[in-house]
Amino acid sequence: MERTVYLNGEYIAESEAKISIFDRGFLFADAVYEVTAVLDGKLIDNAGHLARLERSCKELGLKLPVTGEELTAIQKTLVEKNALVEGGIYLQLTRGDEGDRDFSFSDSIEPTLVLFTQARSLIKSAKTETGIRVISIDDIRWRRRDIKTTQLLPACLAKHMAHAANADDVWLIEDGFVTEGGSSNAYIVTEDNTIVTRPLSNDILHGITRASLMKLANDFDFKIEERYFTIEEAYAAKEAFISSATTFIWPVVAIDDKAIGNGKPGPLALKLRDIYINTALELAE
Ligand code: PDD
Repeated sequence: MERTVYLNGEYIAESEAKISIFDRGFLFADAVYEVTAVLDGKLIDNAGHLARLERSCKELGLKLPVTGEELTAIQKTLVEKNALVEGGIYLQLTRGDEGDRDFSFSDSIEPTLVLFTQARSLIKSAKTETGIRVISIDDIRWRRRDIKTTQLLPACLAKHMAHAANADDVWLIEDGFVTEGGSSNAYIVTEDNTIVTRPLSNDILHGITRASLMKLANDFDFKIEERYFTIEEAYAAKEAFISSATTFIWPVVAIDDKAIGNGKPGPLALKLRDIYINTALELAE
């Protein structure tokens, strides 16, 4: 069945949604995006996603053509039109199309706004049961990873490389320290049950799931420390896990073929995942 998608003010069938070959999102990855999870037909952590979208736009001088309230209304309409119960809503805003390929751009250009839904099982997921295997590779991305742009070729190549190595994903390394996952934030758990994750900076995406986890960890008395950690420290960790809007929390059971802990999903990661999902459902819009 065809999905109904949103393109520049219109709700149309996905096969009818067309954008120009001169769109700067297509030519230059001059675009930002957000992915909001949907559970029980409701939006999860959406205020955080829209706030980050506004920030990304501000950092790049991109014009957001609708208000946050209008965006939420569009997201809810798409959920309804597509009878989406569980999955996500993808939103992309490009700088638009000036009718030719030119590196420089004018400030009067009209942006392109696209949203579509993706049905996906989030609560019941095989990866939660098995955990994921990751390989570590060099983080070759640009220096403004805090802006959620669509320049995702390094992530696509990295995941392809992981799959070729019989792994599920990557952890990215810069100067010996883990930055984040291929499309997620990265965490380890130390022997004394402290959750460790890299502090926020321009080096990583400021994950919305991460922000919620930090708050929950405090509310539920988990010890949490924001500091750099090396891949060697990760190999020796008691547990490891990732967070994102498309996974919530997935345990990491192996890094570079080395088992983490006993090689099974860690209890702390699974507990935090349950707490996150229960709270997210209570707060869902
Ligand atoms: N990715 N770091 C990177 C590089 C990411 O791409 C993502 C999310 C995250 C986690 O952010 P959040 O918790 O706000 O989803 C961290 C999305 C899910 C994607 O590209 O599909």
